[in-house]
Amino acid sequence: MIEDACKIPPMTPKVLDAITRQIAAEFGASFSYLAMAGWCEHHKFMGAGRWLRLQSAEEHRHAMKLFNFVLARNHPVRLAGIDEPRSEFTSVVDVFERALAQEQEVSRQIDALYELAFQEKVFAAMAELQWFITEQVEEEKTVREIVARFHMVRDDPASLLDLDRDLGGRPPEGAKSTSGGS
Ligand SMILES: [Fe+2]
Ligand SMILES: [Fe+2]
Repeated sequence: MIEDACKIPPMTPKVLDAITRQIAAEFGASFSYLAMAGWCEHHKFMGAGRWLRLQSAEEHRHAMKLFNFVLARNHPVRLAGIDEPRSEFTSVVDVFERALAQEQEVSRQIDALYELAFQEKVFAAMAELQWFITEQVEEEKTVREIVARFHMVRDDPASLLDLDRDLGGRPPEGAKSTSGGS
């Protein structure tokens, strides 16, 4: 019966709960990048601040992609709370090292979520999560390269300014460049 078919939950409670937590994790990453942008701009690294603001918006889009997926699978959306992000950093390098650690943590979360979807045989979620697995490879790579460049530059003010200017050249959403982000 059509009525019964509408009642069949496309996702198992475990997978739905895990996606709910991942939505919060993506919003948490967005909030964290915004805090990083705030620190950088307060310390006059305006290019890094711009890069981080765009990355914050990118993480917001990740959260919304999962938000929309839950609705597309005919489930109600529940939003979980997010933790207060870290707002204090010792240097601009520290900011991007924290960003890399954050991306690596998100990659682990996505992997665990994918494994759960596989165990629970929620194939649509697996297909959706494949996009995130690919995205994490790109995001980790981008931030790792930025960290490496900061390590090369060290405390040389002229090179640091160049790097900051370069980060500020990150194009808005939709366009890709060597300044990274996606
Ligand atoms: Fe993300
Ligand atoms: Fe990310």
